[in-house]
Amino acid sequence: MLETATDAVVESFRETKDRRLRQVVESLTRHLHDFVRDIEPTMQEWESAIGFLTAVGHTCDDTRQEFVLLSDVLGVSMLVETLNGSVEGTESTVLGPFHMTESPRRELGDAIDLLGTGRPCVVSGRVSAADGTPLPYTELDVWQCSEDGFYDVQQPDVQPPGNGRGLFHTDGEGRYWFRTVVPSHYPIPTDGPVGRLLDATGRHPYRPAHVHFIANAEHHRPVTTHAFVAGSPYVDSDAVFAVKRGLITDFTESYDARDAERFGVTVPFTHAEFDIVLAPEAETKQ
Ligand code: BEZ
Ligand code: FE
Repeated sequence: MLETATDAVVESFRETKDRRLRQVVESLTRHLHDFVRDIEPTMQEWESAIGFLTAVGHTCDDTRQEFVLLSDVLGVSMLVETLNGSVEGTESTVLGPFHMTESPRRELGDAIDLLGTGRPCVVSGRVSAADGTPLPYTELDVWQCSEDGFYDVQQPDVQPPGNGRGLFHTDGEGRYWFRTVVPSHYPIPTDGPVGRLLDATGRHPYRPAHVHFIANAEHHRPVTTHAFVAGSPYVDSDAVFAVKRGLITDFTESYDARDAERFGVTVPFTHAEFDIVLAPEAETKQ
């Protein structure tokens, strides 16, 4: 009888014209029914599940996407990223909810930290193709939180808009560099239903410190990724499962006076080198 219900629902979608849509709704029906048979919810549990999803919806607005956050903490965002990522280039990770404003255009060497109160840090690197050819004039969108673990949009009274953000272009040899501060680890938003889910399941809400990047070059696949700060708390237990070993980057203390002069800082400063490799546009999916 229970199996018959599944078959009947699958059958009800038989006339779906869009083949991909039909595949999706059939598979959804089978997996959802298997899940329900597995946990055998009481009516009260079913009502509370509906209540939870309703609350997730009510928490969404123009600047808050609680469904994406739910997808993040369930590891689904990362799974979709990985399935769609390139095999040849730099590994991708989640976009996250804080890429909501346009990054201000900046020149190489500019500071994205507009507060100027933190320890100076330089992030530099090279963008190249999978065969090692440098990719000049690649667009690099960069965003990060402050040393205190907040994005500009979370602290409009403390941080000017655009703090921690920059839209750069690599130079003629594919190089980039900018000044900033070392970002902190921080908690994802916990004041909504996703936060209550983490609390009820004894999970912490923290992400390890990172700088976000989107690199975009003509004839190459864009990549959305992070440089994770090596040694940051939570690097082994990211609340959204987005850490990939190859993205963990040393942020080291530098006393190199020539580098300091080149980057427009004074010694000692923190230096991170993060190279990005872009796969060709035509690469076939894994
Ligand atoms: C972020 O890195 O900005 C982020 C990603 C997923 C959930 C919350 C924050
Ligand atoms: Fe982030």
